[in-house]
Amino acid sequence: MACIIATMYLTKEQEAMLDGEHGSIIARMMRLLVRLGDIYNAEKMIKVASVQVAGVSYKSIGDPGLEFLQDIAKEARVRVLTFLNPAGMDLEKWKEMGIDESFAKKQLAIIEAFRKMCIIISATCTPYLAGNLPHYKQHIAWSESSAVSFANSVIGARTNREGGPSALAAAITGFTPYYGLHLDENRQPDYVIEVKTELKHNSDFAAMGYYIGKAIKNKIPYFKGIKEADTDQLKALGAAAAASGAVALYHVDGITPESDKVGIDGLEKIEFGKDELKETYEMLNNGEEPDIVIFGCPHASIAEIFKIAKILEGRKAKRPFWIVTSRATKEMARKIGLEEAIEKAGGKIYADTCMVVSPIENLFKTTGVNSAKAAHYLPGFCKQKVVFNNMEALLK
Ligand code: F3S
Repeated sequence: MACIIATMYLTKEQEAMLDGEHGSIIARMMRLLVRLGDIYNAEKMIKVASVQVAGVSYKSIGDPGLEFLQDIAKEARVRVLTFLNPAGMDLEKWKEMGIDESFAKKQLAIIEAFRKMCIIISATCTPYLAGNLPHYKQHIAWSESSAVSFANSVIGARTNREGGPSALAAAITGFTPYYGLHLDENRQPDYVIEVKTELKHNSDFAAMGYYIGKAIKNKIPYFKGIKEADTDQLKALGAAAAASGAVALYHVDGITPESDKVGIDGLEKIEFGKDELKETYEMLNNGEEPDIVIFGCPHASIAEIFKIAKILEGRKAKRPFWIVTSRATKEMARKIGLEEAIEKAGGKIYADTCMVVSPIENLFKTTGVNSAKAAHYLPGFCKQKVVFNNMEALLK
């Protein structure tokens, strides 16, 4: 029998969780979800198929975050498939990256707390490329903004942009409040974006996403005029729009799965052409000669690593470069000889981390990236000057 707590219906199981019958941590997590649901007028809770938890890097959460996680880990275990967002370092090769021992110790303690909760230690913002692939219309609770955008837009799964604590609460209880992007009626576009220029490079898609996110904030865009886009280009677009605005869902005419199910009549139009593309590249550049080039924001796919190896075939890159990716992708790259090819060309592949959440401010001053999201965060989070360009130009 269901009963009502505040404004939301809870099943008997959920009510028992709230009443502490499954332990005090589960009750605490359920309280958080009920409060969140009440704020957004959710009518009920729904089961989630998987969770992705952010707030993993010691650089982002510090000692208070570590203590909070250690406290939760004493008692709580996750009930659904749960992955992590990138940590502050490669969990195996942190010394080689130049990470300080005291930072590493704290980072490993954070990972240990997550491990105790039975979370899969796959620290990546592309869980969908690393073994956590939801299906169309499946309800999930993910928190990293580019992963949220990809899941909603490219896969057609349903997730709100969870915060670290609400994602952890969903992992521990198995539920999330039913509101926002879980509901079909909230997935309608707000703007039509008329794309009037050719987008060749992943960085062009990223620049467009950045421009549109800045213009429309947290609304939903519907892109028209994109003839083709591969998975990496879509992930670059979504990541950038989520960084400059808070776009958690976009549609691309003829490409994304809900584009022929939503209406666009009467919507305000925004044009994106050659001038806007040029303007965005200029906006994202404030550096001259990078000390390092880092690819993989969002985490590089095997196709991107292959492309980099191909560009550099038979030669060394002019500058040192890193590729950041998931451990699953790095392992695949190693097994098929791609890691060796990258190292021969002067690069390194690091897993579990990224250029924004690792303390690269202690290592470099100017970073080259083809990601608009990284270009957006590097100056503030890592005190970097940024060179934003396409992959080929950065590898010249
Ligand atoms: Fe991923 Fe880090 Fe970029 S978490 S989306 S690589 S800022």
